[in-house]
Amino acid sequence: MTSYKIPVIPGDGIGPEVIAEGKKVVEAAGEVYGYDVDWVVMPLGADHYLETGETVSEDTLRELGGYRAIYLGSLGDERKVKTGILEKGVLLKMRFYFDQYINLRPVKLLEGVDTPIKNKTSKDIDFYVVRENTEDFYAGIGGRGVKGLSHQHLKLMRETFSAKFDLDVLTDSDEIAYQIGVISKEGTWRIIDYSYKLAQQRHKHLSSVDKANVMTDIYGFWREIFQDVGKGYPDVKTDFNFVDAVTMWFVKNPEFFDVVVAPNMFGDIITDLGAMIQGGLGLAPGGNINPEGTSMFEPMGGSAPRYKGLNKVNPIATIWAGALMMEYLGEKEAAGGILTAIEKNLVDRKVRTYDLGGSSKTSDVGSDIARIVKEQGRV
Ligand code: IPM
Ligand code: MN
Repeated sequence: MTSYKIPVIPGDGIGPEVIAEGKKVVEAAGEVYGYDVDWVVMPLGADHYLETGETVSEDTLRELGGYRAIYLGSLGDERKVKTGILEKGVLLKMRFYFDQYINLRPVKLLEGVDTPIKNKTSKDIDFYVVRENTEDFYAGIGGRGVKGLSHQHLKLMRETFSAKFDLDVLTDSDEIAYQIGVISKEGTWRIIDYSYKLAQQRHKHLSSVDKANVMTDIYGFWREIFQDVGKGYPDVKTDFNFVDAVTMWFVKNPEFFDVVVAPNMFGDIITDLGAMIQGGLGLAPGGNINPEGTSMFEPMGGSAPRYKGLNKVNPIATIWAGALMMEYLGEKEAAGGILTAIEKNLVDRKVRTYDLGGSSKTSDVGSDIARIVKEQGRV
């Protein structure tokens, strides 16, 4: 029997509740598909930060780096810690540290779920957003300048490249603020290449998202690379989309899309929209992937601290993220079995949480899906 050792970060807010259900289902699938899992609990998040004053230590990062996959609940609790500290200090830190350059977010309307878009069915909403996950306006470099002359040394260190900016900022404004978006040839090439490959395995259609009509430097470069990479994939049909227009098309013609590749920030924004057309954040999983390193799987939604401890929120996004994780670890059949069980639960329309119009608890939904996984056996 294969045995997996997987670090799990339950995190803040509803994180621990949804992660408990994800573990339950991943373990149930292990009984059917013949693996077991040894969870290594990592207590990161608001409480850890308040107790120790550290977001995540180098030692912890090094330890996590010894594993293939991390299972993450959710990080951040505005009631305890200033907004952004844990998001930047733990979540983004891990994405960058492990060079998880692919943020893979399926936008798939499962059977048994209602989309808010009239007349669209699960046949119409079934695509992937591939979000670049380490660069762009998430580079974390920027600053402020007050009236007069000021100097800034900004450093960007990534696995693939580094860049330094020495800025003399002269302004007659009272104060200015700026944020520098940076994309590299290496970083852009690899995410676009991954997307072409994914499109090739699907319906051979890749859509690029940018704002090259306004941010001509950064996204003009993105487009150039998109076209260069495309020369290696003549069988893939492509199109360029401005980010504002793509939000419109996601709603109007979701069936148009197969694989959508986007720079980090636009990818962040459009995947919240993607989540809504597939039934809500409770149904939206994501993988932060480094194909050669340590990847991390999480529900897309936040920690929703107001719901903490109520056993109320939908665990399906987290369970689905668990399926993506098992698939990444090589358990393709188990992943398929989990997704089939999720769909069966949804089609039954009996055991569902409040966001889907039901009154079942988080743990009821997890138990129901675990039951189905076991009852259906190998699918
Ligand atoms: C997401 C989240 C994060 C992001 C935040 C919490 C830093 O919104 O995973 O989409 O912006 O990437
Ligand atoms: Mn987001």
